[in-house]
Amino acid sequence: MQGNFSYYNPTKLYFGDESLKFLKDELNNYGPVVMLNYGGGSVKRNGIYDQVVAILNEAGKTIVENPGVMSNPTLEKLHEGIKIARENDIDLILALGGGSVCDYSKAVAASVFYEGDYWSQFWLKQQQPAADQRLLPVACILTMAGTGSEMNAGTVITDAEHTFKVGHVFDDRLMPKFSILNPRFTMTVPENQMKAGIYDIMNHIMEQYFSDFDDNTSDYLAEGLMRSLITSSRIAVKNPQDYEARSNIMWTATWALNTLIGLGKREDWMVHMIGHSIGAWTHAPHGFCLASVSMAYYRRAMKFGLSKFVRFAENVWNIRPEGLTDEQIAEAGLVALKDWMSEIGLPLTISEIGATADMIPGITKGTICYPAGYMDLKPEDITEILQESM
Ligand code: NZQ
Ligand code: ZN
Repeated sequence: MQGNFSYYNPTKLYFGDESLKFLKDELNNYGPVVMLNYGGGSVKRNGIYDQVVAILNEAGKTIVENPGVMSNPTLEKLHEGIKIARENDIDLILALGGGSVCDYSKAVAASVFYEGDYWSQFWLKQQQPAADQRLLPVACILTMAGTGSEMNAGTVITDAEHTFKVGHVFDDRLMPKFSILNPRFTMTVPENQMKAGIYDIMNHIMEQYFSDFDDNTSDYLAEGLMRSLITSSRIAVKNPQDYEARSNIMWTATWALNTLIGLGKREDWMVHMIGHSIGAWTHAPHGFCLASVSMAYYRRAMKFGLSKFVRFAENVWNIRPEGLTDEQIAEAGLVALKDWMSEIGLPLTISEIGATADMIPGITKGTICYPAGYMDLKPEDITEILQESM
C-alpha cells in the first residue's frame, strides 16, 4: 500500500433479523425528543413504522414526525426538515428508510445550527461544519440495501429547480451514531429498486477499485465483496425472499461504502458524477443511472488502466487468461460484467431510463468533472460517453 491514511468509523451496527430489539437501549443515550424521518409510505404499508413507533413510545420519547422524504431528496424538502428541527428542540434524528432518508437526515443534522446559507456552504462549496458548530446526532433504521449511507457521512441532495444533484461527504461527526440493519426489512423493496441497489453496491466497489496500480489490500477486499455480491444477486433476483442472499447483499452494501476499501486509494467516482446528473434529469433510481453509462465509461477507462482490468477479469469474473492478450482478457471481463447486468435486469443505455438526446448538453453541464481513476475527463468526453450510452 502506497497511500497515507487514517481510519475511524464511529457507527455502531446492529445486524440481523433481531436487530430492532436493540433500538430501545440505544434510545436511552439520547434526550426525549426524536425527529422521525421517513419516506413516501412503504414503512407504513409493511408494518415497520408501527414497530418503531411502539419502541419509541415504550422508551418515553416525544416523536416529531417528518414524513414524505422522497427518493433522491430535494433541497426544498431539506429546507422543510430544517425548519421542523429548529422549531422542536430535537435530541436525535432517526432515519427510517433507504439511502434517501438516511442522507437527508444527515443533511438536516448538519444544517440545523448553521446560521448562514447551508446549501451554499456544505454542498456548493463543499465545506465542513466548523469544529465548534453544533450538530445533531443521527441514527438509521435501514429498509433498503445499496448506498452504504448507514455507515458513512454522505448526503446527496437534488436542487430540482436547477436540475442539479450533488453529494457532500461530511466529516465523521455526521456518521450515524448507530444503524440497525435487518435484512428482513428489505424483503418488500420493489424489484426494480432491489436491482438498482445491487448495481449501486457494485459500482461503489468499482469506483474505488479502478484507481492506482499498487498492490493494495483494499483491492483484495473489494474483489471479495464483488464476488459475494455477484453470487447473492443471482439468487436474490430469482428469489427475492431468500434471506441468506438478501442479508449478504445488505452487509456487502455497508462494507462497499463505509470508507474501508477506499483506504490508500485515490478512487474514481466519475460514474457517480455522471449518474447523479442523469438522475437530476430523469429521476430514475440512482443505481439505474449508474448502470446506464457504465459500459461506455469502463470501455474507455480500460485503455488507461489495462492491468487493473485484467485483474478484474481474472479475480472477479474467473476469466482464464491462457492464450489471450491482456486486451482480450480485460475485454472478456467487461463482457462478463455486461452479461451479469443483463442477467439481473439492469438498464444498459440511458434511453432505457428516459434520457433523450436533447438532455445530453444539460446532463453534461451538471456533471462535476475532475481528474480521477485512470482518466481526466473533460465535458466533451462526458458528452461522448452519454452519446455512446444512448
Ligand atoms: O419512500 P418510500 O415509500 O419509503 O419508498 C422507497 C423509495 O421509493 C422504497 N423503499 C425503501 N425501502 C423499502 C421501500 N419500499 C418497500 N419496502 C421497503 N423496505 O424504495 C425507493 C427507493 O428508496 P431510496 O432511499 O431512494 O433508495 P436508495 O437507498 O437507493 O437511496 C438513493 C439515494 O441515496 C443517494 C442517491 O444519490 C439517492 O439520492 N446516495 C447516497 C450515498 C451515500 N450516502 O454515500 C452514495 C450513493 O452513491 C448515492 O448517491
Ligand atoms: Zn451510489
